[in-house]
Amino acid sequence: MTRPYLLAATDREPRSRFYDVIVIGSGIGGLTAAVGAARQWKVALITKSVLRDTTTFLAQGGIAAALGEQDSPQLHFDDTIRAGAGLCNEEAVEILVNEGPARVRELMEICPKFDRAGGDLVLASEGAHSVPRVAHAGGDSTGSEVASALTRAMQSGSRVQVLENEFVVDLLTSGGRCVGAVSLDPGSGAFTLNYATATVLATGGCGQVYSLTTNPTVATGDGVAMAYRAGATIGDMEFVQFHPTGLYSDESPIFLITEALRGEGAYLLNHAGERFMVGIDPQAELGPRDVVVKEMVRQMRESGQEFLFLDATHLDCGMLQERFPNVYHNLKEKGYDLCRDRIPVAPVCHYMIGGVVTDIWGRSTLPGLYASGEVASTGVHGANRLASNSLLEGLVFSDRIVRHLDSYIGQARDEARGGRLELPRGDRTGSPDSLVASTRHSLQKLMSSRVGTVRSEEGLMAALEEIGTMEESLASPGADPEQYELANLLTVASHIVKAALLREESRGSQLREDYPSQDDINWKRHLNFRLREEGGG
Ligand code: SIN
Repeated sequence: MTRPYLLAATDREPRSRFYDVIVIGSGIGGLTAAVGAARQWKVALITKSVLRDTTTFLAQGGIAAALGEQDSPQLHFDDTIRAGAGLCNEEAVEILVNEGPARVRELMEICPKFDRAGGDLVLASEGAHSVPRVAHAGGDSTGSEVASALTRAMQSGSRVQVLENEFVVDLLTSGGRCVGAVSLDPGSGAFTLNYATATVLATGGCGQVYSLTTNPTVATGDGVAMAYRAGATIGDMEFVQFHPTGLYSDESPIFLITEALRGEGAYLLNHAGERFMVGIDPQAELGPRDVVVKEMVRQMRESGQEFLFLDATHLDCGMLQERFPNVYHNLKEKGYDLCRDRIPVAPVCHYMIGGVVTDIWGRSTLPGLYASGEVASTGVHGANRLASNSLLEGLVFSDRIVRHLDSYIGQARDEARGGRLELPRGDRTGSPDSLVASTRHSLQKLMSSRVGTVRSEEGLMAALEEIGTMEESLASPGADPEQYELANLLTVASHIVKAALLREESRGSQLREDYPSQDDINWKRHLNFRLREEGGG
């Protein structure tokens, strides 16, 4: 049974810290918000790991924005809406594409490594973009270049208190507002109440719900789960995007092979050596991600194989090495030569489209709580995210959050600083480590087999029941982050399943074999959840 606080404090009184703003998470959304907010406010950035341990850091492809001469915000808008399969929030997309170019140019001022040729920005092609639009840095190391630049910017003014290796357990609420967050220092087992007038969730996605994911092990859906417990609305949880070209292996995380490779002309081949996307989508291998994944699933079923091939062997080897150094060297280490070998690939969980529902200022439905980046559901992605729109979303909406903080903090500061909070008291023994580890593993296998690229009522019902049994088998979390992560994974997983079950159609990244068509009459709408008021909305 979900309740507002997962935490049960012992008799030891938690200590308190006070800020104007706390930012939880250190990907592009969190770093951008922290850098901007610290110009005016007392800010802490809390992350459960080290700053660089984020999905942003792993991003290869780049940032989509209308920066090229043949491009315009209108074209970018049209492509985003088309990819989104009827569910994009058009107002949010307008903002994304219109404010995006300026935000990316500002980023380039602090991140000099964006790739240029003769002074001009090099823009890549990716799936479902009608023109080359993706700016990239260090070839295919955009995420690490951008994250490092933003981290330097955050640290240079040293106005942000950075708290690494501190696990945020719950949001604090008082009088119907979010007034900060409670964190756990895993070393000492001590809890801290971090009071803040405004809290920005930037905790990233939930790829660890699945066994095969490109997301790092920290991507456990903590932000969505804690926002839900605190009473914020979450939505679009059924839309989990699978990336077509994860390297076929059982590594965790799965190594991603960027879509930009197909943008440079790499093919997808089946086991007969045929380019199976030709004739399926006018853009062939560069069709929208959901279209490519759907056909890959069909091809794999037909051949009885668990993978297909990405083939770049016809492309210039020098170009591949220069443009994709990260992919080239990583594959080499794993025994593949990108210039000579067909690379085995399979669709793999990559991105949580849903999340904490926000408005165009990044505000959740809980006053004082903002969300940015993958944890947020701004509506810009609809049912299928356009490639490389995610880093852009973090940049644009964190900037808007920072602009909005001025009015919110001025108006809410006194109220948010009111009374002390009573945390529930209780037993903190937790479940044995072995049970926590085995349940996490079982959940990942269950989600991959029943709630992956293809879903059905039978599989979803079975998954929901098993998740319920897993929840019942666990004690309340103790003082280990792994226990809280597992509770969060279970909360997120159950909402993915519930939403996937309710949505009796196939749309974007939700593919139901028992409802194979898109049903605009009944389902051109969003599914939202809120604690104690669950149901379609
Ligand atoms: C990629 O490089 O293919 C990933 C880009 C994205 O997911 O937007």
